[in-house]
Amino acid sequence: MRTETEHTIYLKDYTPSPYRIVSVALDFRILAEQTRVQAQLTVEPRETTAPGTPLVLDGDELNLTSIAIDGLPLVLSAYAADANGLTIIEPPLRRFVLETEVMLQPEGNTKLMGLYRSSGTWCTQCEPEGFRRITYYLDRPDNLAVFKVRMTAPLDLAPVLLANGNLVDKGDAGDGMHYAVWEDPFPKPAYLFALVAGDLGSITDSFTTASGRKVELGIYCTHGKEEQCLWAMDSLKRSMAWDERRFGREYDLDIFNIVAVSDFNFGAMENKGLNIFNDKLVFAKPDTATDGDYDGIERVIAHEYFHNWTGNRITCRDWFQLCLKEGLTVYRDQEFTSDERSRAVKRISDVAMLRRAQFPEDGGPLAHPPRPDQYREINNFYTTTVYEKGAEIVRMLATLLGEAGFRKGMDLYFERHDGEATTIEAFLAAFADANGVNLDQFKTWYLQAGTPRLSVDESYDAAAQTYTLKLKQETPPTPGQPSKEALVVPIKFGLLGPNGSPMGWSGVSGAEVRDDMIVLDGPSAEVTFTGIANRPVPSLLRGFSAPVILESRASQADQLFLARHDSDPFNRWQALQDVGMDLAVAAVGGTAWSQESITALSQAMADTLASTELDDAFKALALALPDESLIGRTIGKDIDPSAIHAVRDQLLKAVFEPLAMELLAAYRALTSAAPYAPDPASTGRRALRNRLLSLLVASEAAGASGLAAQQYAQASNMTDRLAALAASASAGTAEAPAMLADFRTRFGADPLVLDKWLTVTAAAPRDGVIEDMKGILDDPGFPKTNPNRLRALVGTFAMSNPTQFARADGAGFRFVADFVAEVDKINPQVAARVLTGFRIWPMLESGRRDAAKAALTGLQNSGTLSRNTGDILSRMLAG
Ligand code: TRP
Ligand code: ZN
Repeated sequence: MRTETEHTIYLKDYTPSPYRIVSVALDFRILAEQTRVQAQLTVEPRETTAPGTPLVLDGDELNLTSIAIDGLPLVLSAYAADANGLTIIEPPLRRFVLETEVMLQPEGNTKLMGLYRSSGTWCTQCEPEGFRRITYYLDRPDNLAVFKVRMTAPLDLAPVLLANGNLVDKGDAGDGMHYAVWEDPFPKPAYLFALVAGDLGSITDSFTTASGRKVELGIYCTHGKEEQCLWAMDSLKRSMAWDERRFGREYDLDIFNIVAVSDFNFGAMENKGLNIFNDKLVFAKPDTATDGDYDGIERVIAHEYFHNWTGNRITCRDWFQLCLKEGLTVYRDQEFTSDERSRAVKRISDVAMLRRAQFPEDGGPLAHPPRPDQYREINNFYTTTVYEKGAEIVRMLATLLGEAGFRKGMDLYFERHDGEATTIEAFLAAFADANGVNLDQFKTWYLQAGTPRLSVDESYDAAAQTYTLKLKQETPPTPGQPSKEALVVPIKFGLLGPNGSPMGWSGVSGAEVRDDMIVLDGPSAEVTFTGIANRPVPSLLRGFSAPVILESRASQADQLFLARHDSDPFNRWQALQDVGMDLAVAAVGGTAWSQESITALSQAMADTLASTELDDAFKALALALPDESLIGRTIGKDIDPSAIHAVRDQLLKAVFEPLAMELLAAYRALTSAAPYAPDPASTGRRALRNRLLSLLVASEAAGASGLAAQQYAQASNMTDRLAALAASASAGTAEAPAMLADFRTRFGADPLVLDKWLTVTAAAPRDGVIEDMKGILDDPGFPKTNPNRLRALVGTFAMSNPTQFARADGAGFRFVADFVAEVDKINPQVAARVLTGFRIWPMLESGRRDAAKAALTGLQNSGTLSRNTGDILSRMLAG
């Protein structure tokens, strides 16, 4: 395989740079054709730097047009410059100012890293290594500098000029040009730099901090979309208040701006004082955005805002520490949502997501520790392991230390490291020191890849009145880590007595057991409870207190008992899922289910629906069977996605068809004429009603497909409309094709709604979907430079349509491989991300495995690949 320059970076090689850039003055002259960037970098050698040590600056696709030190132009022999770097061969051994000038072509920057144009707006994305595409620099997160930015641009094309920090000057620059000067007083790494220049509308508001400082808030967007930014603004103000309440963290500048852009590689970016967002995470109105969209906006607005303390004020020493800011900030945004909405529902959705995305990563060829120790392409490590497993680790810390102990640790972390670029070790030390505990073994969670498997054997001794749990943990090998150490696993638990109430004990031995938690810290433990009068039903891993796979299965009777009685809502949900999973796994393996067990599950589902103590949002999650990919991974090897699809369909019918009357009655009772509102109660009601609709459609209940068509046609909001469409398309109802066609005509002009159509189209398990996708991609009007469109179509297909992606004839694999080869030349980050959909391949049955391997090998031989795609591909084939 040929890839762009092969190189591996190791954590163990970390050394501080011999020079530091302490302040930066940038002057951008933005013209329609090109942008001139002049940089004045104030550089200081370290005390330990030896005379003659060269200063090596990063660059990426740059071209140098002038260079000087302290105002004197450099002779050619004094430096070496090419597109990928600038070396000053013998810099002065004192503070000096390096001046450079480069010319950029943002228009042709389809990688969307550095300075680029999105729908005419100039904007930047610098994390992790985009700043080196703007100017030669020490582009590493441990170089903190203060930035002053002057921008000059045509007034007609870019009346709005924004950068980090505070606006200190602006005015006319003659010839139809104007300028603005922004200053950010907080030293920051270059990845937090941002600039925006464009013709944008905006909404403004303000927030007064706890200490009484007034902060001006602005959200900038395409003209005409202003009213669609109100939910984002509301979310921002609630985030600011929450961080003060919950963590004592106030905002620190006088201005906080958000800009929505249409072309963006990820969700959003936490640039200091100037967050830049993918517009799909800003715009919302009831007839085009779903409840899921509203939820995503609230969550990501909060996430980026929370980075101001966890990421910006305290940043990462190097990119190996990425989860220092990301895992912690995801934990914080999860807590925000839990406090604002329903904690149980949030936990269940997050765990479902962890199992859908992170577990397969951790169990496949791309597995890596939350803190990796080597990488070839850092962009490939913005993963669900770093983000979501990173958040689980922080959550376990909070579970082990308790809320007060966790807060003490956070306070000490802020106190010690504000203004620094630091490490996971320093983070853990703050919690250890604040609580007087040792976290050395706990740290292994950050260093070890793979999902631990936790197995439990129980036994009850009626004569001795003792109850024993034998616990065992084992983490399977992952690429590069053949043997694993035991982790610290907090297992929240409870014992339920015969009537479902909590059961106490008179004594316990064998492991560290606190009132509601067993801490397993060795490979195995045997925990014995004494004074137990009856055999209890154990509820284990309550709230999913550790990111593990709980292997032991209770009997169906115990599971249904838990589904009915557990005081822990997470485990109530889990128990129902487990019953469905056991039936599905057995059926795929050839063991037909008994009518008795089906009836029992149907009855439990009916009871859940009828319960007066459970809320709608919870019921919507509980009335479901595990998804196909989770069934596949539970089976674990020789997966045949079509067989799983067929079994799951039959199971849906068997369990829910007998409940059709109840489901329909509940569906009708949930109908509401109230105008759309995104509050938790209304969202829960819609979620349950739409779940019932999809169960009716999927179980082919009489009249269900017509009901879905009717809901689609009469819906007063996008949540209800899209739910009806998705249920129909995924079940392939007779009405689905006409509904899809209608949706396209109705909404095709709104790109964010078009994405929903692309998603529903790509996720349909029917034959012909690949041909349809080819037709869509070949349309000359389809924007292959827009990541949202590409991910909605091909990303969805590779990640969420196992039947067609993993077709036995290999057509799905070939389609995605060809797509990756093509898009890699436009946007390597998008191509590499889509390619990760192949990570399931080693688990497939042998025919499909061979087909996947052939497609991957074909990609490997297709020509030069980017470092992004080459790195994913080589790990995919090696693992
Ligand atoms: N730091 C961003 C976050 O909040 C992630 C991100 C945004 C990103 N844009 C990116 C990462 C581009 C890599 C490349 O999570
Ligand atoms: Zn983040």
